[in-house]
Amino acid sequence: MYSKRILISGGCGFIGNHLVRHLVKNHPGWLIVNFDALTYAGVAENLKDIENEPNYRFEYGDVMDEFTLSAVFANYAITDVIHLAAESHVDRSVNSPMPFVFSNTVGTVYLLEAARQWWTHEGTFEGHKFYYFSTDEVFGAIHSGDEPFTETSGIVPNSPYSASKASADLFARAYHKTYGLPVIISHCCNAIGGYQFPEKLAPATIDRILNNESVVVYDEGLQSREWIYTDDVVDAAMTVFEKGIPGEAYNIGSGNECKNIDLVNMIIETLWMRKGIDRDEVRKRIKYVANARPGHDFRYAINADKIKAELGWQGAQNDITDCVEKTVDWYLENQEWVEKIKSGEYKTINDTYRY
Ligand code: TYD
Repeated sequence: MYSKRILISGGCGFIGNHLVRHLVKNHPGWLIVNFDALTYAGVAENLKDIENEPNYRFEYGDVMDEFTLSAVFANYAITDVIHLAAESHVDRSVNSPMPFVFSNTVGTVYLLEAARQWWTHEGTFEGHKFYYFSTDEVFGAIHSGDEPFTETSGIVPNSPYSASKASADLFARAYHKTYGLPVIISHCCNAIGGYQFPEKLAPATIDRILNNESVVVYDEGLQSREWIYTDDVVDAAMTVFEKGIPGEAYNIGSGNECKNIDLVNMIIETLWMRKGIDRDEVRKRIKYVANARPGHDFRYAINADKIKAELGWQGAQNDITDCVEKTVDWYLENQEWVEKIKSGEYKTINDTYRY
């Protein structure tokens, strides 16, 4: 009855829930199977608005659990995979690398293997796709004035997080070369938008400002990131999924480069405009923390020419001001969500989805 039956891993995460919602709402002819382990950054309730849609299923499971994975492939006769599930917070990876190795690297190999086995059992890889959503952080860091990363930049990760994602990149590539598995990879710059866990720069900053806490900026805040709004991530990911050529990798970028301190100041300005916060008082609360992140990457920037030229992606529609204003607005409108995360109430709700 469904022309595609897509397993999407990590659908309860930040980018995952935006992509699952888009797929469910816009593709009624596709079955969307959200496979999520509900680890600390997975919030089952994120998808409450679509959980009763006929083309949506939730499957509680870990990508490292090969038995559950193969059962899900068989039960739904999965035709495609979009693999997002990952531990993604660099600071956590510095403090505790092993969960990153297991979930991001080993988990990816289990998922590649489950797809290979199921599609081999079905007789052909034809018509299937395995889309691995990776990060620009696999390319390491660049200096001011350097050319942005292209698809042929070296894989030279610097943090345990980026090393775990890069290792998975290599396995994904190897599964294409060795077995002909129809693997497509994308490398995306820093995403910003609603539903991001409040440990990351934008939501952490918004939360600290609203709660009269110190606004923590690592070093002097001169590191820069390229920011892409969640709607643009979804649009680019759909382009890669639908039009990408197996064996190829595509960079997803926005051109919205911004130094951390500038992003923090834009958030302060937006909260001043929206809530009338005392800008000068908040600026005095900025706390510059030296060496907060060992091996701190200086700059990431992406050249997204290939996805535009070869797949016809229109490019990001949200500039840096849209990114910040829409994100601040989402957090102001969803303080209840933030409270559930901070209080841990979401974990109790998650438990009701573990069956
Ligand atoms: P982060 O949101 O953790 O994303 P990533 O490390 O994947 O780019 O951090 C973005 C940048 O912001 C990074 O240079 C570290 C910095 N940062 C702060 O200055 N203060 C903070 O509280 C956090 C979480 C990050």
